Amino acid sequence: MSKIIIEGGRKLEGAVRVHGSKNAVLPILAATVLNGGKNVIYDCPKLKDVYASLEILKCLGCNVSWEGNTLIVDSQTISTHYIPENLMREMRSSIIFLGAIIARCRNAIISYPGGCELGPRPIDLHIKAFKQLGIKIDESHGYISCKVDNIECDSIHLDFPSVGATENIMLACVLSNGITTISNAAKEPEIVDLQDYLNKMGAKICGAGTSVITIEGVKSLKDVCHTVIPDRIVAASYLAATAITGGTVTVENIMPLHMQPIISVFKDCGLDITEDKTSITLDAKKQIHQIDFLRTLPHPGFPTDAQAPIMAVLSIADGTSIIAENMFENRFKHVAELARMGADIKIDGRIAIVRGVKRLSGAKVTATDLRGAAGLIIAGLNAEGETEVDGLCHLDRGYENFEGNLQSIGAKIIRR
Ligand code: EPZ
Repeated sequence: MSKIIIEGGRKLEGAVRVHGSKNAVLPILAATVLNGGKNVIYDCPKLKDVYASLEILKCLGCNVSWEGNTLIVDSQTISTHYIPENLMREMRSSIIFLGAIIARCRNAIISYPGGCELGPRPIDLHIKAFKQLGIKIDESHGYISCKVDNIECDSIHLDFPSVGATENIMLACVLSNGITTISNAAKEPEIVDLQDYLNKMGAKICGAGTSVITIEGVKSLKDVCHTVIPDRIVAASYLAATAITGGTVTVENIMPLHMQPIISVFKDCGLDITEDKTSITLDAKKQIHQIDFLRTLPHPGFPTDAQAPIMAVLSIADGTSIIAENMFENRFKHVAELARMGADIKIDGRIAIVRGVKRLSGAKVTATDLRGAAGLIIAGLNAEGETEVDGLCHLDRGYENFEGNLQSIGAKIIRR
């Protein structure tokens, strides 16, 4: 099994480009089922989760092909509305195909989505909304079977602004005969990108990015070309890598608006950040300050996906920081591994008390989830001596060539 080996202590310098967003492209890949035509997706990241989605699209009968980082999906021929269990178990976000398949085929049969290391991730909000839309749902033997003649448009209020449930309702209602509103919708930038993609296909959706989204159903959709938005969490990871090494790096291909919740935290750490239209420069020569209280929240709060990378940074800050993980029950698994590297972090339920240490020390550590993997690699960039990170199957789900890009800005890091 391959590992990443890091020799810490080198300041990162230079510029690095951020790839397209995993969490934007996954719902867009589900949307390609809707138009029964050609979908051209530019800057599509080459990630394990993307490949898992392509296996689902191929299984449904779509043709997929790559030209560099441009992905072409042709969904003219859909031959089934069933997704086999092994493909559903690959990743949690396979659930997002449900709305798109129901809209296209009026039927869908899937198993429950794959488990994720972040704790129980129920889909009750998805199911509740679909039932409200008049979709007949039978849940038995580990399968979810859905049937509908016509989507009954309605005003749906989400008990929690779930990203996945918001996306699934948008996908299910695009080809309906009326107007559906979603209130308390998730406001993440990836939701706005999905709206933009669907509207380029000929859909009529507005309000994404606010807590009220309105979908006016249309009869048909057309071919589409679209460039995926940059990955704000990957950008946050490069900023954290720069901060923990005391370096100066320009992170390119970002959208400043999407990054504000992340930028404000690095500023609170006392670091210098300059922004321009498509890049951010972090100058981390100064000592990193602790943060009194950092909570993960739905957007525009601080994203839970950047929690592990920022925890690595705060583990060497001058003073004690408190982090509250409000989004997932079990997203502190990287803490025990950071402790192997000399970090001083106490956990009490969903609260982490991070007492900054002078410097971390290299160790053999294991990643057990995607963002935890990035957090451990970032910690290794600071650590004295050598750090060996395994469990890279998690990293590859969301980072394209992470170690190569870090190497390009001065890190001593290899995969072997
Ligand atoms: C999306 O997951 C992201 N994944 C996650 O990123 C991200 O952490 C999460 O949103 C929150 O920002 C993708 O976009 C592919 P949710 P999603 O539905 O849609 C509970 C990463 O590292 N909930 O907003 O699954 C749920 O258990 C990944 O890139 C219910 O209780 O997130 C969680 O506690 C990890 N019932 C909370 O809501 C439901 O029906 C947020 O979940 C749905 C969700």
